[in-house]
Amino acid sequence: MTEYALEMKNIVKEFPGVRALDGVNIQIRKGEIHALVGENGAGKSTLMKILSGLYPVGTYDGEIRLGNSLCRFKNIKESERSGIAIIHQELSLVRELDVMENIFLGNEIHKWGVIRHEKAFMKAREALQRVNLSVSPDQIVRYLGVGEQQLVEIAKALLKEADILILDEPTAALSEQESGKLLGILKSLREKGVTCIYISHRLKEVLSIADRLTVLRDGKTVCTLDNAGITEADLIAHMVGRELSHGDDGEERTVGEVILEVQDWSVYDEATRRHVSQVSFSLRAGEIMGIAGLVGAGRTELVMSLFGAWGIRTSGRVLLRGKDLSLVNPEDAIRAGISLVSEDRKRFGLVLIQDVKNNISLASLEKISRRGVLDANKEVRYAEQYAADLKIKTPSVEQVVMNLSGGNQQKIVLAKWLMTEPAVFILDEPTRGIDVGAKYEICRIINELAKRGVGIIIVSSELAELIGLCDRILVMHEGTVAGEVNGRGATQEAIMHLATGNRN
Ligand SMILES: Nc1ncnc2c1ncn2[C@@H]1O[C@H](COP(=O)(O)OP(=O)(O)OP(=O)(O)O)[C@@H](O)[C@H]1O
Ligand SMILES: [Mg+2]
Repeated sequence: MTEYALEMKNIVKEFPGVRALDGVNIQIRKGEIHALVGENGAGKSTLMKILSGLYPVGTYDGEIRLGNSLCRFKNIKESERSGIAIIHQELSLVRELDVMENIFLGNEIHKWGVIRHEKAFMKAREALQRVNLSVSPDQIVRYLGVGEQQLVEIAKALLKEADILILDEPTAALSEQESGKLLGILKSLREKGVTCIYISHRLKEVLSIADRLTVLRDGKTVCTLDNAGITEADLIAHMVGRELSHGDDGEERTVGEVILEVQDWSVYDEATRRHVSQVSFSLRAGEIMGIAGLVGAGRTELVMSLFGAWGIRTSGRVLLRGKDLSLVNPEDAIRAGISLVSEDRKRFGLVLIQDVKNNISLASLEKISRRGVLDANKEVRYAEQYAADLKIKTPSVEQVVMNLSGGNQQKIVLAKWLMTEPAVFILDEPTRGIDVGAKYEICRIINELAKRGVGIIIVSSELAELIGLCDRILVMHEGTVAGEVNGRGATQEAIMHLATGNRN
């Protein structure tokens, strides 16, 4: 008898030009929460895709054992039958189906007939309540925000009642409140003997919940640690294997003229019946303004509407350098000098089937063209520059974006919008799925842009990040601004107080 619920031995996985896993070993005890950490591109998702049968036997080397039996999964169904359920890093719900259909997808709900329909509806509603998501089971997924979709995926996986539950970055799109709730659920699953493999770049979260941790670096196992007396710094040292440079050089920024003015801004969206009401603020050149709030508070809707990509205006106006902007679409916004890094990179940020250089230059074609003709060499030079600046891990700028790790895809979205050199740069969850090293890097870039006089708006669920980076923070609740706090000296409690509906 082995003491392990699961062992993966000497796992090797190659893609053209990349050895993603280079002899990984990992041993998971029954009933533990085992965290898997490592930098972007370290191989975490690839390892879990092998375990869940997405990469079938024969496409990798090495051995998987569940208890005493050797597993050779040919597909996801087979791994599910062995009691393994996975929540993937990239959202995978079917956007045109409703929440309930998605929850039971693959569970053959259509065979159940009308009578069972009601039962399924109830079951779905219970599952949603379990993750604290207040949307109706018949809501079409397309209308949900990324955080809400994430909660649906979690609800769906929990219903499978797996023995081994794999969560790949489940909280990247969630605020601390919702993440806390999820961690609570995982702890109660642990009491019932469920084994959990947990991937996250939020190291505090990982240290608060994991029993043991395995660190991967460059496709190899660095070590497996007991979570006793480990600090975040220890963990980072194992992950990166080098010293980290800090984000801000401490140099003072000077804040200039008002660049963007939003007055009494109200927007309504018919399809989702969501609204943003009476938002007013002004943003100065060189200023970094944060927007905080819970999932569903209207943060994304607000910034998307300013970018001309969401809803219909019902009142108010937006002025850029004193000039009234009547944006109707993102193209207008980009031309006027506003860029937005969307939280939903799959939908708005990237063309997954195109390569790195095409994606980076997509919104700045005039920079690499002369008299309407594209200069391919110039495109490569720009892309290589950004890939180096942002430390994008890819074999070349000709790699198809779909093949990059989640965090590296996020960096490409950032590069694409940096290349447009906007006057106002809006970033919605820019560090989602990004590792610690890259986070410092992105914070450095944001500071750098602000120093050059760009006005910056950041939506983030990571309060510590907002507090560290922003001059001031607007807090939203139910579609409107509940209050504002100063960036320096703000506390997470003060922000949460406003975010949960209290006024200051
Ligand atoms: N389908 C693929 N084709 C080619 N290369 C791939 C493919 N999938 C992953 N890779 C490469 O394998 C390596 C490991 O990727 P993986 O997605 O496992 O990283 P990760 O640890 O999950 O990173 P992140 O924290 O960014 O999600 C990366 O270099 C990635 O570019
Ligand atoms: Mg990953």
